[in-house]
Amino acid sequence: VDLSVHLAGLTLANPLLPGSGPPGDNLAKLLRLQAAGIGALVTKTISTHHPHVPKPCMAFDGDLFFNVEKWSEKSAEEWTTRILPELKPSHVPLIASLGYTPADLQELIPAFDPFADGFEISTHYIPDDPDQLQKTVEAIKRLTGKPVIIKLSAHARDIMASAKACERGGADAITAINSIGPVISIDIEKRASRLGEDSPYAWLSGPAIKPIAMRCVWDIAHAVKIPVIACGGVASGKDVIEFLMAGATAVETCTSLVRQGPDFIVQLLSEITDWCASHHVDTLAELIGSAAPTFRPTK
Ligand SMILES: Cc1cc2nc3c(=O)[nH]c(=O)nc-3n(C[C@H](O)[C@H](O)[C@H](O)COP(=O)(O)O)c2cc1C
Repeated sequence: VDLSVHLAGLTLANPLLPGSGPPGDNLAKLLRLQAAGIGALVTKTISTHHPHVPKPCMAFDGDLFFNVEKWSEKSAEEWTTRILPELKPSHVPLIASLGYTPADLQELIPAFDPFADGFEISTHYIPDDPDQLQKTVEAIKRLTGKPVIIKLSAHARDIMASAKACERGGADAITAINSIGPVISIDIEKRASRLGEDSPYAWLSGPAIKPIAMRCVWDIAHAVKIPVIACGGVASGKDVIEFLMAGATAVETCTSLVRQGPDFIVQLLSEITDWCASHHVDTLAELIGSAAPTFRPTK
């Protein structure tokens, strides 16, 4: 089975990427993902100033996974001087996740351009305004010739309008979605919120959010022509196949990687290959968007 996919000018050996977050927040973890056979690497989001991250910053309740993480606690300088030069000779494409304001990106993109094969820009902490999003994407595209992927959150008022604004601005692909929230989870033994210091709010990820991510991927894939990278709740190879059928060209996984480590990538690759072989699917291109026509309105 040929698992390779073409994504925004990059050729990936397979459609799997880590969702920006703990799986890509240091050199050792990025190298382990590469050794596990990941299709492309994505860093933890990097910004211009140091975040305050309450500890612990992750907790689970059964299948529900909560976090109060922000962006990388490592400085942009540490990334460009100590981490990314070590990955440069890699044959696995490297996507730098950067955020957030136009001023942050003006500073970060030129610094990361020599190391990255593409950029994923988080919109998690910027105003939910398609016009502003379009202008931000246009400004980013003036800073780099590398593929620019915009990561949207499900809490956008109109995710299709946001996706169209990204496409108009020149984005090369869209990732959907980020963690969902804010949410609250109470530890009844402690009579306190599971996470947080001065606020009880957290963000939800993992299998619980998969159907929301599926809807967003489906809607975006119908709204724009640029490729969509699915992210949210992947726990098995069948989840990856489902996202491809909904219209995704590639698929990210964060929470399951946090919980299971890089062997999860090996497991996904084997499950995807087995499913394709048993269903006589030779290339993943046959699957992308293949569920969509069935449900398209007929009038
Ligand atoms: C602990 C944690 C940290 C995260 N940090 C980031 C981040 O720095 N940047 C980002 O774009 N998304 C971040 N995310 C969101 C994930 O990349 C992903 O979009 C989301 O968790 C849904 O995918 P999943 O269900 O496979 O985890 C984080 C998620 C978790 C659980």
